[in-house]
Amino acid sequence: MAKQDDLFKNVVSHAKEYGYIFPSSEIYDGLSAVYDYAQNGVELKKNIREYWWKAMVQMHENIVGIDAAILMHPTTWKASGHVDAFNDPLIDNKDSKKRYRADVLIEDYAEKLNQKAQKEIEKAKARYGDAFNEQEFIATNARVVEYKAKQREILERMARSLETENLEDVKALIEELEIADPETGSRNWTDVKQFNLMFGTKLGASAESAMDLYLRPETAQGIFVNFQNVQKTGRMKIPFGIAQTGKAFRNEIVARQFIFRMREFEQMEMQFFVKPGEEMKWYEYWKTTRLNWHLSLGLGQENYRFHDHEKLAHYANAAADIEFNFPFGFKELEGIHSRTDFDLKAHEQHSGRKLQYFDTETNQNYVPYVVETSVGLDRMFLAVFSNSLKEETLEDGSTRTVLRLPSVLAPTKAAVLPLVKKDGLPELAQEIIEDLKWDFNVTYDEKDAVGRRYRRQDALGTPFCITVDHQTLEDKTVTIRHRDSMKQDRVKISELKDIINREVSMKTWLMKM
Ligand code: GAP
Repeated sequence: MAKQDDLFKNVVSHAKEYGYIFPSSEIYDGLSAVYDYAQNGVELKKNIREYWWKAMVQMHENIVGIDAAILMHPTTWKASGHVDAFNDPLIDNKDSKKRYRADVLIEDYAEKLNQKAQKEIEKAKARYGDAFNEQEFIATNARVVEYKAKQREILERMARSLETENLEDVKALIEELEIADPETGSRNWTDVKQFNLMFGTKLGASAESAMDLYLRPETAQGIFVNFQNVQKTGRMKIPFGIAQTGKAFRNEIVARQFIFRMREFEQMEMQFFVKPGEEMKWYEYWKTTRLNWHLSLGLGQENYRFHDHEKLAHYANAAADIEFNFPFGFKELEGIHSRTDFDLKAHEQHSGRKLQYFDTETNQNYVPYVVETSVGLDRMFLAVFSNSLKEETLEDGSTRTVLRLPSVLAPTKAAVLPLVKKDGLPELAQEIIEDLKWDFNVTYDEKDAVGRRYRRQDALGTPFCITVDHQTLEDKTVTIRHRDSMKQDRVKISELKDIINREVSMKTWLMKM
């Protein structure tokens, strides 16, 4: 656990030190769970967004994109159910005055039971070696059986109580389990209350005429309310999709873990409209397609897993998360949801407009079913960034910090370095920059010894360093150094563009899907 904490701390400090992420308004001590993307972060984020957009929109003839406004008519959120049900159960500690999500306190307690069971399994594994039968041990060892049963019982009771809005029982459970404030140990709790996560705001200048609005808590509703407009003007035939990326806002009660859970964040969502009855086929298709998109980035197959939801939201008939192995364990990265016709029907009822599709094959009107894919851009950023940050020991015993970003996503593709700051080498390096910058983000660096400059670019995640030396003056060749292998090749300046392009082009990477 300590190792994981250290890794996570390194991720946060590296992101700041190398100009990826800063706390928001830091000169005023920051704002909780709000972050700013810095000069390199904004490039990495833009590249992830583009990689998603190309895979979803450009590569699918039947998917188009939109960019709906963040502010929407307030009835949108009544129809979608967010006004009534987008709540988290919160509880305050009377002594520490700290606020927590009641369900998270209980889940953390249940997770500790799971960890205890895991410890027993690890101990037995070490004791019995090759002869160890893990499944049999889990099924028969009294302690493991007890821990697992208790964990299940707690989570089931909590789910039942939340579903029936029995908040007294949620508090009773916290008290029975003797759950204490994680920071102070106090067990002096208030009652559990529901807390709506939407941020309110006002539209209009005068107090009397101002209209209460919400900042959108998901981008999906901007797609639903535009379903008819896009279908008609784009002459879209079912099945088809509408994609969108953009900001969403949630007043999270417990916002922690850096950019994993933020109050202002960005989503990349796609709603796929299908014929009723065909949704399960498309749900499976999108589960596979989205996982393949993640795998194409090469962060390691073992770092992904599906978590199929057993307890479904009232509008869904199937739902799964793609979980990623973050520095603090496996957590949700993307959701794939079969949302039935819930949203379109609800908007029909609240707006009085028909949101239907006329199927020319069957001569029938129907409200399409929807399969949604929804991934947080900031969570993708954290997955990519934390997985790429490595401390390596080299053959000569020295160490280096390297950010092994997938080169397609790296903010800067190449750094051009004159070996010395004289003899016309800087001018030649600038000429190379002038040529390459039409195709790639490139940078120039002449400060410090070349070895230190390599290390700096390694830590920034730049896939290539191009060094201009005295031989360059004679034969127009340079050395190109590869970040990951540290291998150096002597190549012609005229070959640089092709060499870089082969490694960083979106086509090369997307073809791995
Ligand atoms: N339209 C469906 C929807 O919004 P969700 O599971 O609430 O579903 C989808 O959110 C994705 O958005 C999540 O898988 C996660 O990647 C991202 N996300 C949700 N809340 C977030 C937050 N507070 N901070 C950062 N990302 C968040």
